[in-house]
Amino acid sequence: MKKRSAQWFARQDIYGFIYRSWMKNRGIPHDQFDGRPVIGICNTWSELVPCNSHFRVIAEHVRAGVLEAGGFPLEFPVMSLGETLLRPTAMFYRNLVAMDVEESIRGNPLDGVVLLVGCDKTTPALLMGAASVDLPAIAVSGGPMLSGKYRGSDIGSGTNVWSMSEDLRAGRLTLEEFHEAESCMHRSHGHCMTMGTASTMASMVEALGVGMPGNAAIPAVDARRNVLARMAGRRIVELVKSKTNLSKILTKRAFENAIRANAAIGGSTNAVIHLIALARRIGVDLKLADWDRVGRGVHTLANLMPSGKYLMEDFYYAGGLPAVLRELGENGLLHRNALTVNGKSIWQNNKDAPCHNREVIFPFRKPFKKNTGIAVLRGNLCPGGAVIKPSAATPKLLKHRGRAVVFENIEDFHRRIDDPALDIDSKCVMVLKNCGPKGYPGMAEVGNMPLPPKLLKRGVTDMVRISDARMSGTAYGTVVLHVVPEAAAGGALALVRDGDIIELDVQKRKLQLIVTERELKKRKVAWKKPDAPLPRGYWKLYHDHVLQADQGADFDFLVGGSGAFVPRDNH
Ligand code: FES
Repeated sequence: MKKRSAQWFARQDIYGFIYRSWMKNRGIPHDQFDGRPVIGICNTWSELVPCNSHFRVIAEHVRAGVLEAGGFPLEFPVMSLGETLLRPTAMFYRNLVAMDVEESIRGNPLDGVVLLVGCDKTTPALLMGAASVDLPAIAVSGGPMLSGKYRGSDIGSGTNVWSMSEDLRAGRLTLEEFHEAESCMHRSHGHCMTMGTASTMASMVEALGVGMPGNAAIPAVDARRNVLARMAGRRIVELVKSKTNLSKILTKRAFENAIRANAAIGGSTNAVIHLIALARRIGVDLKLADWDRVGRGVHTLANLMPSGKYLMEDFYYAGGLPAVLRELGENGLLHRNALTVNGKSIWQNNKDAPCHNREVIFPFRKPFKKNTGIAVLRGNLCPGGAVIKPSAATPKLLKHRGRAVVFENIEDFHRRIDDPALDIDSKCVMVLKNCGPKGYPGMAEVGNMPLPPKLLKRGVTDMVRISDARMSGTAYGTVVLHVVPEAAAGGALALVRDGDIIELDVQKRKLQLIVTERELKKRKVAWKKPDAPLPRGYWKLYHDHVLQADQGADFDFLVGGSGAFVPRDNH
């Protein structure tokens, strides 16, 4: 059967002339249009995205692999998303990039695609876009940075930014030391080297089977990262030949493997939103409740920041995700026959994976932390659900009752948090509103609110915090996130007032606002919907169509896929 690209390049008419002739301006010989697989290399390189700044090199290695396997590589750019510079938050643009990717693939003569992903949101955005087209696809992550080194100690992206900024605010660190740490933290190419969202999503790529074995942890600057890229280039050509479309890889079983892997690595809560959104693109019924059901009973095995102390470089040298997947497989927690992009099952890939350091990757029978999958909370404060990552929380706060201290929005929080007169003590529950998908907009990573300096100075290191926001995968604390419905959509979160009592019981999966139904109804009548932040353009599209966190915060009109149909000729 003819390949999809033949509908462009195999034509012997005016259209074939147009489709081929302009491609030849780069020096492509006529024989490259002989029906060989045309492979897109979807690149998120950008100087505005430091984590992906080495992707031109990665793309060249993928290209070499495609050529070696007899394919015809065509690299193309899509919008890139960096966590560090992009406002209001990179997540705000995830769905836009997914659209960019989807239409770039569908509208062009591609038979398969390699997705170059790195900084947090680039991974879900590219996978979501590709899933809605459903051609053969392989994701190649750019790899984590080398470990940060500061005055003889390892420091991790994000995680130590939060702790050092708290130390600065508490007077435990000088400004000079702070600046020095800034230079020590990020000293090579790559994405954040803690088990933050980027490393989590790179691990999800491997656990889903949509990336090559080893994808999660090989450091960005290690030559083996380039080898992996090259092998992916070779492999995608075979996937096209064997018609192994993405939907053959991204099955419900693959998602369940990923959920368990996420628990075992102490992965980011952001994965919950991204995997639900991805599943809905490819037609897999994955719900928020599945995270609790499937992940329950899985222990954290990886001793990595922010849940533990080591970094991705250590993780790779200890055996990386394969060693973790082997532990899961040996303990009945892996769908062993799930297919992966290298043509083997996930079990074939990982069953003999060695572990070289049990300080970094613990055995399942003697785990690093017990029963620590993502917990999904319910209650009158979050009827649509909320999540907490117990591995990054303070155990004694997982059952807590406290007085609410409410911040109406992020500006209100910044205005008052440093005020010595703020009426707050360590038992209070900090509540932040209007930071969800519609409210912020884009559901920013502000849920791990910094603690008030007056409590920090007294040695308080954690408090219960609740919001409709997300938090960085590098962050930690007893932080309840993704409250659904969000405040800006009129959820009960919008109705919380200073002094209300809130009960959290993670063991029982409960989050309850101790206020009568009658009183809440009264408050709802008085509630005013906040204005949309901007009345036009992408901001309006986003505001009008974004779904809540329990549905992956995708756009309502993007759920599902349209396949790889080829529309009319373009002239
Ligand atoms: Fe890009 Fe952390 S800022 S991965």
